[in-house]
Amino acid sequence: MAIVSKAAHSRAIFILGFLGVVLAPHAVSGQTTRQSSDELRPLYAMGIDIAEGKQLATAVCAKCHGLDGVSKTKEVPNLAGQRPSYLYLELKAYQLGRRTNADMIEKVEFLSDDAIVKVAAYYSSLDSATLPDTPAPPFVDAVSAGKAAAEPCVKCHEESGISKTPGVPNLVGLNPKYLVETMKAYQGGEDRKLDAKNEKMKTALDGLSEKDLGRIALYYALKSENLTRAQTENVGNTTVSKESLSRCVKCHGEDGVGTSPATPSLSGQDNAYMLKALQSYKDGSRDDDVMSPRAKKLEDEDMANLVAYYSSLTPKPTGIVKPMAPDEWADKCDRCHGAGGNSTRPNVPALASQRLDYLAKVLHDYQSGKRQSREMSAMSALLTDDDVSGIASYYAYQKAKSVVYVTVPSK
Ligand code: HEC
Ligand code: HEC
Ligand code: HEC
Ligand code: HEC
Repeated sequence: MAIVSKAAHSRAIFILGFLGVVLAPHAVSGQTTRQSSDELRPLYAMGIDIAEGKQLATAVCAKCHGLDGVSKTKEVPNLAGQRPSYLYLELKAYQLGRRTNADMIEKVEFLSDDAIVKVAAYYSSLDSATLPDTPAPPFVDAVSAGKAAAEPCVKCHEESGISKTPGVPNLVGLNPKYLVETMKAYQGGEDRKLDAKNEKMKTALDGLSEKDLGRIALYYALKSENLTRAQTENVGNTTVSKESLSRCVKCHGEDGVGTSPATPSLSGQDNAYMLKALQSYKDGSRDDDVMSPRAKKLEDEDMANLVAYYSSLTPKPTGIVKPMAPDEWADKCDRCHGAGGNSTRPNVPALASQRLDYLAKVLHDYQSGKRQSREMSAMSALLTDDDVSGIASYYAYQKAKSVVYVTVPSK
């Protein structure tokens, strides 16, 4: 079996006689795939099968998917030009309950295998959707968006995230998960209260969505160059005993680097801010199951010296890496989905010119486990919401190239 490009033919599928028996089912694009002969049947459908498939499509499917296979309905996928075995497999997946969409299950529940083969062959034989008329939504780069959203913060926290004001914390070297949780705590106003002096910070935080918080956290967490301790005075004795420090290192490290994403790094943190934090844990105005009991046990001098010790250290980069741009992600996706999302394997879906809203929905379904796939669960787990929007848009705006599967006699 060989594959020739769409350029040579106008129809997606060509069926040259009845060669199914002599074909090696895995000889597609040199890829070894686990294909049963059943799922390959739509590849060998003949003109008459496709015509019968069209009748079924007219009666049942066109309402949602269009008779031309181009959907006009939100979150309903385009089917035109989709890879034939993939369509077959997904229809079986609904039938067997592995995909859970109620509308689809109802439509395919009672279809025979034969009918499924034919309707799959019909839709895959159509010309793929053309590109949307509307321009692609601009890609939001999370880091630049974080920088923009952090604008009201820099007058206290500085562009660099390194504080020049006693009482204002550094925002560098902190895990983004911790930063987001902390900002939410201030927004909620229960676990972390702001005194009148810091009301301006509350004003700056209040208008921000969780997405904004994530982007701001990322922006500060990615700062890795020229990290220095807070540019504020450090008071107290920086030489602390091993014994004193032993109460903190399990979580904050000897080098002041938090040992879990929920634990803040303390290296180079502003002295006055840390001292106030510990006093607040001690007097109950900042409450935390882990820190409050520990702070209550600290004598004033011990507290001051531990703060001085941690404040004297140099902050370390978080090790967080810059998120990939959609085209960088696509390099990884294209390994299975084909160049520009034009799959050359009959059982792997094409993504090019699929509806944007459907692509985004499906990627979220893989993430939540609502839709299951060995390959895609692993892949989608790595994506942030910004990645999903970017990638969905990337593929929705890739020009679809139909693949013509031409059967050639094997040796
Ligand atoms: C009432 C509307 C509706 C009708 C009628 C309908 N579908 Fe669907 N179809 C959907 C929706 C919504 C989805 C996406 C559901 C999901 O995410 O699992 C879908 C998904 C699919 C998929 C999966 C596509 C992919 O890219 O994974 C296939 C294949 C499909 N439909 C084929 C058909 C066929 C064939 C018929 C007729 C027998 C049909 N549908 C009738 C609404 C409909
Ligand atoms: C008016 C000055 C001011 C502004 C503006 C401000 N902050 Fe703050 N920020 C502070 C002060 C002071 C604290 C310490 C408050 C305390 O003691 O709890 C703080 C604490 C924080 C903390 C806690 C750090 C930690 O280690 O737990 C985070 C995170 C933070 N700010 C983020 C922001 C962000 C994001 C913005 C902008 C949306 C912002 N701040 C705007 C003054 C400010
Ligand atoms: C079992 C783990 C654990 C141990 C041990 C521990 N901490 Fe913490 N520490 C945390 C966690 C978790 C937080 C964040 C709590 C919150 O959200 O308020 C924290 C917060 C802090 C903060 C506030 C930092 C900020 O940016 O707001 C300071 C200061 C601090 N710890 C100092 C210490 C010192 C000093 C010791 C040793 C006496 C110590 N911690 C021991 C887990 C620990
Ligand atoms: C290892 C191979 C592989 C990689 C890499 C891969 N995919 Fe997939 N993808 C698949 C397979 C196989 C399916 C069909 C799974 C199923 O039946 O649910 C699929 C299904 C999908 C679907 C559903 C299409 C539809 O019509 O419903 C989307 C969307 C998707 N992949 C996007 C991506 C994106 C985005 C990436 C890169 C971040 C990616 N894939 C990487 C193999 C892969």
